Amino acid sequence: MESIWTKTCSIPKREPLQKDIKTEVAVIGAGMAGILIAYQLQKAGKQVVVLEADRIASGQTKNTTAKITSQHDLIYANLIQSQGEEKARQYAMANETAIAEYRRIIEEEKIPCDFKETSAYVYSQNKEKLMQEAEAAASLGIQASFISHAALPYGNSPALRFDGQAQFHPLKFIKPLAEQLEVYEKTPVRTVDEHTLHTPKAVVTAEHIVFATHYPFVNFPGLYFARMHQERSYVLALENTPLVEGMFIGDGENAYSFRIYDKYLLFGGKGHRTGENRQGGKYDTLRKKAKELFPHSLEAAHWSAQDCIPADGIPYIGQYASGKPYWYVATGFQKWGMTTSMVSAMIIRGMICGKENPNATVFDPQRFSAEAAEGIACEGRKAVKTFAKRLFKLPEATAKELPLGHGGIVDLDGDKIGVYKEEDGTLHLVDIRCPHLGCQLEWNPDEKSWDCPCHGSRFDFHGRCITNPAQDDITIK
Ligand code: FES
Repeated sequence: MESIWTKTCSIPKREPLQKDIKTEVAVIGAGMAGILIAYQLQKAGKQVVVLEADRIASGQTKNTTAKITSQHDLIYANLIQSQGEEKARQYAMANETAIAEYRRIIEEEKIPCDFKETSAYVYSQNKEKLMQEAEAAASLGIQASFISHAALPYGNSPALRFDGQAQFHPLKFIKPLAEQLEVYEKTPVRTVDEHTLHTPKAVVTAEHIVFATHYPFVNFPGLYFARMHQERSYVLALENTPLVEGMFIGDGENAYSFRIYDKYLLFGGKGHRTGENRQGGKYDTLRKKAKELFPHSLEAAHWSAQDCIPADGIPYIGQYASGKPYWYVATGFQKWGMTTSMVSAMIIRGMICGKENPNATVFDPQRFSAEAAEGIACEGRKAVKTFAKRLFKLPEATAKELPLGHGGIVDLDGDKIGVYKEEDGTLHLVDIRCPHLGCQLEWNPDEKSWDCPCHGSRFDFHGRCITNPAQDDITIK
């Protein structure tokens, strides 16, 4: 599985960190958020190093659909109601400013990244809801309007349109920025102790530390595991389809997203909570729908993405935890990682440089509201349910019964373990307890991975950790 971005752009490798260093700012994570935060701080005169566990942009940045937009489903009417008009305006303006900042950097650095200004649409048959949202967004300063017949790649639909939005190629954008930075790859940060970061071969001492790791791996303080879960979604890059103008996302459970890149239609959907795909078939369902909508289409690539979903629907950007004024976090971007990465860079640059950002309060990770409390309680209930399942669920199959090319939880000599059986019969056995906080992992047949329903850690069938917050591999018995 390779995204259309990795098929069309590669980023040179960097060496791992080998010796102890001191710096003003250490950024953990070299995805879009980490690179933008480091870039903005370096431009502001700070000494910055970036520590990446794997490769630059090797996490979710390579799997995005790369929309740069303040349109985040239908949120503004709800935000005004739950947060009040001032904070809803901050959210809107932070994202609108982020779009302008992308434009500015691309022009200033002369980055050929297929950046294109276009409109973003949410389509739905619920006209009233769309009109209400258009009114709410417009009242906050966004160029928003209701369109009764927006042209989708197939037919028309009522839609909410935001003008002045954009799309690009994320790797072509990040590559020249990363080249300007001191980045160490294959340098996982194992622990952070006040101003000290421990990596396998060296120690980094930093005045300020930024966690830009998709999902924070330090559980205490911060308690981000109690405030977020993760969701997966799937994308096909299709050739031979109508090429529409704009970026589209449907409202509701079975809706799809569309945007054009070059000659490809990026067609996405079939999202679900991570760790809840035991039946599989997500790609096949998406392919079936693609054939129905675009009978002559040809698949050029397919891939999946994983998003952090915060309890109250607002990302966490700012101080990591009370009592840690020199730790910062950027997480909970939902499906809007490109725009929110830039929002994070602008807010965290302001905090470290002592310049107040007028749009920061709404993203403050220390916030606590009734909506957040309900979301946190819901996450807690879910985790308890999963722990209980670990204790009481009966084994499902024995290793012998497992068909070739399949995985699952089996009974092996009275023990409950995870098994993947390759097409040639080779067995790969793993412990199904998640090393993060002990929930039971579930087999994901679409990706041949072990996924955790509690906070979304993932492991390949060899047991190697491929998505945090877990930091360790799972034991191979
Ligand atoms: Fe937290 Fe698995 S990701 S228990």
